[in-house]
Amino acid sequence: MAFPSYVKTIFYSIAMILALVFSLLGPAMGQLIVGFYSSTCPNAEEIVSSVVQEAVQEDPTMAAALLRLHYHDCFVQGCDGSILIDGSDAERQASNHAGVRGFEVIERAKAQIEDVCAGVVSCADIVVLAARDAIALSNGPQYQVPTGRRDGQRSNVSDADTMPDSGDSIQLLKAKFGEKGLSEKDLVLLTGAHTIGTTACFFLERRLYDFQPGGGSDPTINPQLLPELKSQCPQNGDVNVRLGLDRGSDQTFDVQILHNIRDGFGVLESDAKLYTNESTRQIIDSYSGFPSSTFGPFFERDFIDSIVRMGQIGVKTGLNGEIRRVCSAFN
Ligand code: HEM
Ligand SMILES: *[C@@H]1O[C@H](CO)[C@@H](O)[C@H](O)[C@H]1NC(C)=O
Ligand SMILES: *[C@@H]1O[C@H](CO)[C@@H](O)[C@H](O)[C@H]1NC(C)=O
Repeated sequence: MAFPSYVKTIFYSIAMILALVFSLLGPAMGQLIVGFYSSTCPNAEEIVSSVVQEAVQEDPTMAAALLRLHYHDCFVQGCDGSILIDGSDAERQASNHAGVRGFEVIERAKAQIEDVCAGVVSCADIVVLAARDAIALSNGPQYQVPTGRRDGQRSNVSDADTMPDSGDSIQLLKAKFGEKGLSEKDLVLLTGAHTIGTTACFFLERRLYDFQPGGGSDPTINPQLLPELKSQCPQNGDVNVRLGLDRGSDQTFDVQILHNIRDGFGVLESDAKLYTNESTRQIIDSYSGFPSSTFGPFFERDFIDSIVRMGQIGVKTGLNGEIRRVCSAFN
């Protein structure tokens, strides 16, 4: 039994109208979309870009700091700005967040945005956009990132206990990423964020001088790298001295970090461990030599997929959460 064609036309029209209604309501109903603020605060992304650009010009180490801030925000309570809250018991005080920086850059962007469209743009989204801009300023890939996150209303120092640690086993690193909906491939690619930035000697103490089992140094450190690390971070020396995470390329966002990890030049223990496990090693190797060098897979391109996925962890949307007036305090 066939429908007359005018009935089909009516069905078709209803379907089109429903599709339109849902595409307009969708963001309000809870998922993220690229350009969420394009009508409510059209300059939001541009303001973030210009504030980040200025900050990085003034202090080139700020690009890496903003990228790390995004990761630390997303891994605790989701990407909801919980790390931005200031206070004695607030999440920011957690030892697992030690050295996380860039709060004043986020706050500066927020203030400028509030001047033109008050109460519209979340701090959670500003963190995500700032990381995106920081990557581009480091010669990394440029990409569009979905927005529409709202700010969380909880920030508790104990929530950061479950952050990945540079001394974690490979199983534990995989499990901690898995809990956030991220795969082994995401673990490798996102660790590739260590293509820019530095670490304090603090995080190398154990790896250089008390590696278990047996004490001494981690045997997976390339013999050429070991004396370099030891001279930069002498035993019982100043743990605040900083060195590049991506030897020879710590200002440029590129695949070198994965090649360094492959060759035993990874600086952090957790980075090096990715090459000790068969499955993560295969992922690292897939970004080396042919065909990767010519036909892909390309680190920069795949990194975008992973960081966009990381940006979706535990997001609050629609009527959840709030839009803070200032990023360091709840309304
Ligand atoms: C696999 C789990 C991870 C561990 C154990 C880890 C650990 C660390 C450590 C110990 C540092 C040095 C911190 C300091 O001394 O200030 C660091 C720096 C950094 N991390 Fe990670 N990280 C991980 C994943 C990530 C992810 C997923 C990202 C981003 C997508 C990221 C981005 C960065 C950046 C950019 C820096 C340099 C910060 C700066 O120069 O100020 N990390 N990480
Ligand atoms: C933080 O969380 C812990 C453990 O859930 C709880 O005991 C404590 O009261 C919380 N602190 C604040 C200020 O909410
Ligand atoms: C390493 O990877 C393999 C997959 O090849 C997996 O089955 C194994 O459990 C992993 N080992 C560790 C220690 O995580």
